[in-house]
Amino acid sequence: MAFDPNKRPDDMARITTKELADRFIEEQVNAVRAQVGNKKVLLALSGGVDSSVVAALLIKAIGKQLICVHVNHGLMRKGESEQVIEVFGKALDANLVYVDATDRFLDLLAGVSDPESKRKIIGKEFIEVFADEARKLEGVEFLAQGTIYPDILESVKQAEGKKAVKSHHNVGGLPEDLKFELVEPVKLLFKDEVRVVGEALGLPHAMVYRQPFPGPGLGVRCLGAITRERLAALREADAILREEFDNFGLAGKVWQYFVVVPDIKSVGVKDDSRYEGWPAILRAVNTKDAMTATIEEIPYEVLHKVTARITAEVEGINRVLYDITPKPTGTIEWE
Ligand code: XMP
Repeated sequence: MAFDPNKRPDDMARITTKELADRFIEEQVNAVRAQVGNKKVLLALSGGVDSSVVAALLIKAIGKQLICVHVNHGLMRKGESEQVIEVFGKALDANLVYVDATDRFLDLLAGVSDPESKRKIIGKEFIEVFADEARKLEGVEFLAQGTIYPDILESVKQAEGKKAVKSHHNVGGLPEDLKFELVEPVKLLFKDEVRVVGEALGLPHAMVYRQPFPGPGLGVRCLGAITRERLAALREADAILREEFDNFGLAGKVWQYFVVVPDIKSVGVKDDSRYEGWPAILRAVNTKDAMTATIEEIPYEVLHKVTARITAEVEGINRVLYDITPKPTGTIEWE
């Protein structure tokens, strides 16, 4: 049978240790150098596990020949873009282009409430912002991507005609005028292996073991039509939940946990006055493959602490609810 570069060889050892990761890194560093020579490589660096590991690997292989573009769509969690700048721009001294496109995204999303329309707008605009940056650069012939093995398996499934519940793969192809050869050094790895490689490359533990975060970001957690005020409340509430999960030692144990803020208000009371606000909905789930999920039973002590902090510290929120619906019937995200 012909060699298929997109198929993981049956005898490929699972990367579980630093030694195996170091060997993989050395092989890929050589492979990337052989592939790109002295040419420039472009990478969309979201700050997620896969693109971060690819960035660190390519910085090791080709240094400043790699140009990382970080597009802040205004829907990142608190502190995320700052971490990308800190780790890649400063500590690893990468060639990093930071684009704050918050206004472009939020202006386009104003008044749009349908979840799939929101996803499409975010995905399309992301490509446009990235393409605008790519056109400004000269002599780039390669595009690096954080494709991992489950992405390849998923595309095979979709090519076979299986239907997705939500359009997750929102970042489609680049416009016709931008043609690059792909560099995909981790495309045969599973997620747990990518993490081991990331740690071997010296990336911070919190970045490598970061919980999954959807491409459209907080955009699908600020339910319905996004407003800047409600988005700001969501971002603060979500940061409090994450901080308390860290404090109570839950962060590494729960697969995904986050806050959702719907576009409804209820009557509450604050400082002896009527206080109308949004509810913050907490979600914490465990899953193996995201196709089904069980809910994490968050201890009451944690729920009380998070509720007290969110209602005291976040402008516009007056209640906290806890979603105990497994998937099915609830999907993990609300939109
Ligand atoms: P659902 O909500 O379908 O989510 O149960 C399953 C997993 O996929 C993530 N998710 C997305 N990821 N773009 C992404 O990159 C999206 O549009 C998207 N929607 C959901 C979700 O966070 C969960 O991990």
